Amino acid sequence: MRVGIVGGTGDIGEGMAMRLSRIMDVCVGSRDPSKAQDTCNTCLLSAKECGVDCSVKAGTNQEVVEQSDLIILAIPFKHLKATIEGINGWEGKIVVSPVNPMERRDSFVYTPPQEGSAALYLQKILPPSTRICTAFNNIAGNRWCAISEELEYSVPVCGDDMEAKQIVMDLVDRISSLKAFDAGPLSSSHIVESITPLLLNVARFNKMKDVGIRFV
Ligand SMILES: NC(=O)c1ccc[n+]([C@@H]2O[C@H](COP(=O)([O-])OP(=O)(O)OC[C@H]3O[C@@H](n4cnc5c(N)ncnc54)[C@H](OP(=O)(O)O)[C@@H]3O)[C@@H](O)[C@H]2O)c1
Repeated sequence: MRVGIVGGTGDIGEGMAMRLSRIMDVCVGSRDPSKAQDTCNTCLLSAKECGVDCSVKAGTNQEVVEQSDLIILAIPFKHLKATIEGINGWEGKIVVSPVNPMERRDSFVYTPPQEGSAALYLQKILPPSTRICTAFNNIAGNRWCAISEELEYSVPVCGDDMEAKQIVMDLVDRISSLKAFDAGPLSSSHIVESITPLLLNVARFNKMKDVGIRFV
């Protein structure tokens, strides 16, 4: 299975690319392929330093969607619409949304669209055959990039296509010490997305860094 990361050059995208390319084939996407190549070079150098294999290649976001079976949308909510509409070939693909619509005011606030969540918004703008799941919403970009450290978090996964959800949960369980949990249908995604502003507020008001979740 090839995993593609649309927006793979960003804060979570690059760390995801580093970790995933050590366990599977990864395609890093960007609006600017040279930027995607820079991220690939970072992955290759980091793997070489650790003496491990790495399978990663760069492309445009369009190429990533064409060449991947599962696509992670590592894009800020405000750029989702333009990004999705600028790409063809979503039909039948598994699309994973780590997207959290939120704003920083006096504190961090969850600001979902009128559909109720980023995931349900995606369901509205993607073709009906797209197999959308919510995952990876609550892990800080810094943690993804700290490649020598274990990721000891729980990852709630939402989705309506049970086969796609199982594929995503199996993927989660292959990454570091992450553990996937079925968090229900796609319509429950707002609960998962809204945890992230809570984590950021807890971090901010308690002088903590990169707060995450673990179900025990
Ligand atoms: N950062 C975190 O700690 C974190 C944690 C959990 C979930 N998330 C979620 O993950 C998603 C990505 O977050 P991030 O912090 O990684 O985002 P980011 O670094 O701000 O941006 C990610 C990528 O989006 C692309 N992008 C930027 N402006 C764009 C535009 N106008 N049109 C199209 N693409 C544009 C860029 O890729 P190119 O310039 O290469 O095209 C950029 O590298 C968000 O939805 C966020 O809610 C983030």
